[in-house]
Amino acid sequence: MPESTASSTIRWDKDSDGIVTLTLDDPDQSANTMNTAFRASLTAVADRLEAEKDELRGVIVTSAKKSFFAGGDLRLLIAARPETAQEVFDYGMQVKRDLRRIETLGVPVVAAINGTALGGGLEIALACHHRVALDAEGAKIGCPEATLGLLPAGGGVTRTVRLLGITDALLNVLLQGQQYRPGRAKEVGLVHEVAATPEELTAAARAFIEANPTARQPWDVKGYKIPGGTPAHPRFAENLPAFPANLKKQTGGAPYPAQRNILAAAVEGAQVDFETAQVIEARYFVELACGQISTNMIQAFFFDLQAVNAGRSRPQGIAERKVAKVAVLGAGMMGAGIAYSCAKAGIEVVLKDVSQEAAEKGKAYSAGLLEKALSRGRTTEAKRDDLLARITPTADPQAVAGCDAVIEAVFEDPALKHKVFQEIQHLVAPEALLCSNTSTLPITSLAEGVERRGDFIGLHFFSPVDKMPLVEIIKGEETGDEALARAFDLVRQIGKTPIVVNDSRGFFTSRVIGHFINEGVALLAEGVDPATVEQAAAQAGYPAKVLSLMDDLTLTLPRRIRDETRQALRAEGKDLPAHPADTVLDRMVDEFGRTGRSGGAGFYDYDESGKRLGLWPGLREHFAREGGADIPFEDMKERMLFSEALDTVRLFEEGVLTTVADANIGSIMGIGFPAWTGGVLQYINGYQGGLPGFVARARELGERYGERFAVPALLAEKAAGGETFSD
Ligand code: NAI
Repeated sequence: MPESTASSTIRWDKDSDGIVTLTLDDPDQSANTMNTAFRASLTAVADRLEAEKDELRGVIVTSAKKSFFAGGDLRLLIAARPETAQEVFDYGMQVKRDLRRIETLGVPVVAAINGTALGGGLEIALACHHRVALDAEGAKIGCPEATLGLLPAGGGVTRTVRLLGITDALLNVLLQGQQYRPGRAKEVGLVHEVAATPEELTAAARAFIEANPTARQPWDVKGYKIPGGTPAHPRFAENLPAFPANLKKQTGGAPYPAQRNILAAAVEGAQVDFETAQVIEARYFVELACGQISTNMIQAFFFDLQAVNAGRSRPQGIAERKVAKVAVLGAGMMGAGIAYSCAKAGIEVVLKDVSQEAAEKGKAYSAGLLEKALSRGRTTEAKRDDLLARITPTADPQAVAGCDAVIEAVFEDPALKHKVFQEIQHLVAPEALLCSNTSTLPITSLAEGVERRGDFIGLHFFSPVDKMPLVEIIKGEETGDEALARAFDLVRQIGKTPIVVNDSRGFFTSRVIGHFINEGVALLAEGVDPATVEQAAAQAGYPAKVLSLMDDLTLTLPRRIRDETRQALRAEGKDLPAHPADTVLDRMVDEFGRTGRSGGAGFYDYDESGKRLGLWPGLREHFAREGGADIPFEDMKERMLFSEALDTVRLFEEGVLTTVADANIGSIMGIGFPAWTGGVLQYINGYQGGLPGFVARARELGERYGERFAVPALLAEKAAGGETFSD
């Protein structure tokens, strides 16, 4: 007789063939996670399997949710502190022991992976003798722990190393936390089979059980050798020295302890027996879980990101709307990318430029991206053709008729922007949302001349648009809530993450990244060797080195922004204080004619094809000082980080930013603030000594390097009141 019972999160169904199906189904959550209820259920299930194993022919593990298993319980993990290290260790060891009991039961166990299996999800599957993954829509398989500052501690390091060998486990699974579609997961060796339908999934699981009544894990078979050898093996020993270098290349020397611990757990674990390897894995995990960096990264990439995408900054009570047809005005670098992203999301696009030729060129950009995707198997010819058919290039303003949204991306010239909006405002649908992709111009003044100012809003994309996940939405003084909600919905419709800010020159992102750039250039002005300046940015964890980033942005852009800001402030009777970076920028452009990569020469030299050659030797000659400048390296890194963090607090005081989550996510995803910090305000929260520690250090930097490190009143108040930045 079939029997069916449930522990609180795992259902037990035994059929008349003696096969037990364990269905993971947390009644309190939409996805299964490794929470305390699951842990208790796992122990209960392992007890029962052991008690009844003689009557069982096999076990199938699957899930009743859309995803198989989402991973660790991040609410528990973010609360881990050095004081709770033993508890965290015991927790992990219990899960490992129970998985190991199931793995060594002597009965074939199959994972029928019906959807996404990440982190703990893949680890449960790895403890099964056979893994079949359903090719479900959007399903992802992998161990993304490294991206949260952690390592897979449910046996993930121990088993992937034994399954794939140290090199492949590290490079394909562990160090970067790749997430694979089922087909690719099979190629990498994480799953054995891919099923096209749920029926096939079950059939394949049962077929394995029938054919393998005495299944065992390869590592439990006597004489099993780790593929590629252990560190004791001469072939492996040859490759070992490359790992630290590879690690440094990946992290730029920045503080990413997860990668370091993963490497150590993998290499040390490969040299000992399975059980000892699991203990080593647990120790390295506990160190990470109880540290500040995993707290920062979980806060940002899980809690803040979820809050942002779920619409914390979207006005409530306004029905969600979708855009059917968008007019993109200007088919240059940004317009072409915006057109591609919109068409990819299924939106009809009218791509308008001054000539048919320019518009066609903008569309050709999409064709180029699609050819690349096609050659890598990431799209099909049919999808490519459909996407391209949605983009209509034109020079005719009348073609925008019927569009329910406009995104303007013409040159950064207020007069031109006014002109193009006036030209099309009566041609588009009467309620069309009117957006400008300006990177710096105040939205409120751009709206002048537009009749429906309530529908006018800033939609600041980042370059390259197809890759950059963030869009900064800027609410002008007259922008209505309806327009804000629609802009938010449009950004979500094209699969990007929207942060919302109030109007101001440079908004949040362009203004704050300016401090990073200025600090880097100021260091040159103070005589620091240019290679050391680049090294400081890399070791602080910035994905782009500061002088190379400047070259890509052009040296003329920050100069122009600086001059325009100064002019605008003077009109208000204020002034922009001189910055030590000013003279270097001016001399680079005026005296040496070096304007950046697009001009063929900047802080770096370039060959004719635009390939970067090396730092311009003239920098040392004209700016660096004999014997180097007397600035501690730590100060160099922290000047970059602090200048951005302090101005973000000022933006809060000014009401430009209104949520902490938007600030954190915007800083990482938009302007490359180092991910290990958890974002620009979490950096302050997590600084050694908390807010008071940060304030003390800012004062020290202020005394050494000037007023720009002054502590904003809001920060001083929060530090004195024992508060942190949180929503
Ligand atoms: P771009 O120079 O590559 O393209 C501008 C395009 O506008 C050109 O193709 C030009 O022919 C077209 N255009 C000029 N007058 C027009 C008119 N009357 N009607 C239709 N099209 C017209 O410039 P890019 O880099 O694409 O920048 C566009 C806007 O996006 C600017 O406001 C810029 O500040 C902003 N932006 C730029 C970013 C970047 O990284 N380049 C990042 C974020 C925003």
